[in-house]
Amino acid sequence: MELRNNWSYPTAMRFGAGRISEIGEACAVAGISKPLLVTDKGLATMDITTRTLDLLEAAGLGRAMFSEVDANPTEINLDAGLKVYRDGGHDGVVAFGGGSGLDLGKMVAFMAGQTRPVWDYEDVGDWWTRADADAIAPIIAVPTTAGTGSEVGRASVLTNSETHVKKIIFHPKVLPTVVICDPELTVGMPKHITAGTGLDAFAHCVEAFSSPHYHPMSQGIALEGMRLVIDYLPRAYADGTDIEARAQMMSAAAMGATAFQKGLGAIHAMSHPIGAVFNTHHGTTNAVCMPAVLDLNESMIRERFDRAAGYLGINGGYDGFRAFVQDFNDSFAIPRKLSEMGVTADRMDDLVAMALEDPSCGGNPVTLTSDNLRKLFEATI
Ligand SMILES: [Fe+2]
Repeated sequence: MELRNNWSYPTAMRFGAGRISEIGEACAVAGISKPLLVTDKGLATMDITTRTLDLLEAAGLGRAMFSEVDANPTEINLDAGLKVYRDGGHDGVVAFGGGSGLDLGKMVAFMAGQTRPVWDYEDVGDWWTRADADAIAPIIAVPTTAGTGSEVGRASVLTNSETHVKKIIFHPKVLPTVVICDPELTVGMPKHITAGTGLDAFAHCVEAFSSPHYHPMSQGIALEGMRLVIDYLPRAYADGTDIEARAQMMSAAAMGATAFQKGLGAIHAMSHPIGAVFNTHHGTTNAVCMPAVLDLNESMIRERFDRAAGYLGINGGYDGFRAFVQDFNDSFAIPRKLSEMGVTADRMDDLVAMALEDPSCGGNPVTLTSDNLRKLFEATI
């Protein structure tokens, strides 16, 4: 079966190897005639980026790029990007990259026509209605990793450079107008990034699947997303040029982010503050946290994983799945403890307080308290 198609949900998606060649056409569909490509510093000089700029130029769309984007993008990156966008007279954004490039690109398009500070649009209640929806510029999203799924998300994560707290900025129109999923763009990812980003997708699916909220559509997507990661991440890790594995992982990433509309949970509630304080890799951090979170939630999720395990090709129901997760982590050389990634216990009080405030808490099957979060951090650090 050729892994190539056009999908109309959650947005217009052009999926398949080589489809970055359609970037000019995608801009036309979105009504963009002078795009600004936003990506991170690391990607700025890579071949896939140069090739994409060449394609834009060949389509008469210029080759403007902004790449002053940190691994955890801040409002300082955003302000610099907005200045380039406005000074250049751009009319849309090509958000290009992993989570950093995609998230900041989406924020540049969102804030291009707003007048209030970005923090006023945090994902709290109906704060998003404060934005002028007509002033949001169109977005084309082009993922170059397979993990975050930000290409199909209606929010971005932005780190406050003063407080080091990660905030989620949300607006329904931040959903990209067109997504190009071209697995060939991911073949150059180093092994540890393939593993870390792939396990982020896995955590999205596992947490969405575990969340108690009623959302059967997300439940189905999360289940198939878990299967794709289990079947194809080992192949993508072993051979980065395995296009079938890269394609299936790119699907799993988009599926994870689609599914987590249903909710995330303690893995992300822990991982956000750890990443903000210790600057660890998000997906890798999630992977280290997952076993302890499964243990905390066991009584609430046992039955649904008993049912899922067979479909996932795992014997032994929930217990088989729990054992599988540790073996899966080990097979990608994921540390067993966060201390191996530079995380220390001296900021424990801050970590617990920040985790309790994290919006991901709402989707965890067991209600999170400072008590059980402290135990989770103690078990994981
Ligand atoms: Fe994540």
